[in-house]
Amino acid sequence: MSEENKMEKIVSLCKRRGFVYPSSEIYGGFAGVYDFGPMGVELENNIKAHWWKWMVQKRRDIVGLDSSIFMTPRIWEASGHTTGFSDPMAECKECNTRVRVDKILEEIGVIADEKMTEEEINKIFDENRDKIKCYKCGKQNFSKARKFNLLVKSNLGDFTETNEDPAYLRGETCQGIYVNFTNIVDSTHIKLPFGIAQIGKAFRNEISPRQFLFRTREFEQMEMQYFTYPEDEMKEYEKLKEYRWKAVLDLGIKEENLRWKQHDNLVFYAKDAWDIEYNYPWGFDEWEGVHARGSYDLTQHSKGCGKQQDYYDQENNKRFIPHIIESSVGIGRSVFAVIADAYTEEEVNGETRVVLKFNKKIAPIKVAVLPLSKKDELTKPALEIFENLNDKFVCQYDETQSIGKRYRRQDEIGTPYCITFDFDSLEDKAVTVRDRDTMEQDRIKVEELENYLITKLNN
Ligand code: GAP
Repeated sequence: MSEENKMEKIVSLCKRRGFVYPSSEIYGGFAGVYDFGPMGVELENNIKAHWWKWMVQKRRDIVGLDSSIFMTPRIWEASGHTTGFSDPMAECKECNTRVRVDKILEEIGVIADEKMTEEEINKIFDENRDKIKCYKCGKQNFSKARKFNLLVKSNLGDFTETNEDPAYLRGETCQGIYVNFTNIVDSTHIKLPFGIAQIGKAFRNEISPRQFLFRTREFEQMEMQYFTYPEDEMKEYEKLKEYRWKAVLDLGIKEENLRWKQHDNLVFYAKDAWDIEYNYPWGFDEWEGVHARGSYDLTQHSKGCGKQQDYYDQENNKRFIPHIIESSVGIGRSVFAVIADAYTEEEVNGETRVVLKFNKKIAPIKVAVLPLSKKDELTKPALEIFENLNDKFVCQYDETQSIGKRYRRQDEIGTPYCITFDFDSLEDKAVTVRDRDTMEQDRIKVEELENYLITKLNN
């Protein structure tokens, strides 16, 4: 299967089986935004629950938070986002398509960085214009590159007509964590080193949203900021990198599809920065970031609000600004990586079987209950089994079409077990349980079904 082919197949499966739909599709679409369908939302929720378990519930030193999307614009000024949170953009003068200059240069093997000045970027851009074509019209007539700020503005609380004082939709969730640092210290008595974790929406005016869920304008982040003694920052950083790697593997991702990549150019305050990359259909690219940020964030907010965002170390009777290490990952990218990793095509009796071999923990539906026919004598007891199991696992009941077609459907949404209630079931009080991966079938007594599934699903 070629890479292009795999991408097309994943996008099409996501739509066909209710994982992901393009936003506003009936109106012709809306770039950079996606909707998650019935299977997508179950998968998202399982990925979030897995992250929360690893990043909050398994840890005595990390607490959760749910801060607001809207915050005072002063936060985004202090953090540097109103001035520095930008990407270099150019426009095709022939068809008005906008391109991200650092990315289009990267595609021809030229290293440019969104952190460079406009002048530096334009110099590299000019040197390579003859090698770059517009994605849409193929012409080579681009404007100069200019920095474009990615913060999304709103008029919340601004009743002027001119929108002079915009409130921003948050560009990253972690600012809500930094500005609650002292609240958490005061209200929980937690001691350094400790972390604050949250999951929530973020918004960026991405110039060229691309590659399906990889780069979107509205997305969700799962971020954990860990506050450390300055001298322990790098020791804790290594521990966090190791922990995140284990957590990603625990999602069931194949290790050969993962790698670490260190950032070439660090922002001036960062100590170190690595990304966990996934092997997407177009090759290895960023999935999540683990960064050592020094004392930058709390220092900036101390200056911004005029109150020291520091920590009092009672034992040593000293005050200081903690250093921060962060782990930050997008849910869209996680859903994409998990589906791409699970996507399998197999030859069965001369036909191609498409199956999502999800780790059972994160499969959207755990068990499907399928009566062999639509006759009342089968559907009634099958529904009874469904109602009973549905209390313990996320189940689906399906009586439409042939059993073969129903198996294929369940394979395509990655359901680990299908239960078939047939005419023999009326006599032997047993059902057939089909395993998604091996397609082997076991005959199990109805009264033993729940325990059987608990054992299987926890293996
Ligand atoms: N607080 C740090 C921060 O936000 P980032 O590298 O800009 O750093 C962190 O973003 C993670 O958020 C990325 O590794 C990626 O998983 C996700 N992410 C960032 N921008 C995204 C976008 N436009 N679409 C989807 N996911 C995105």
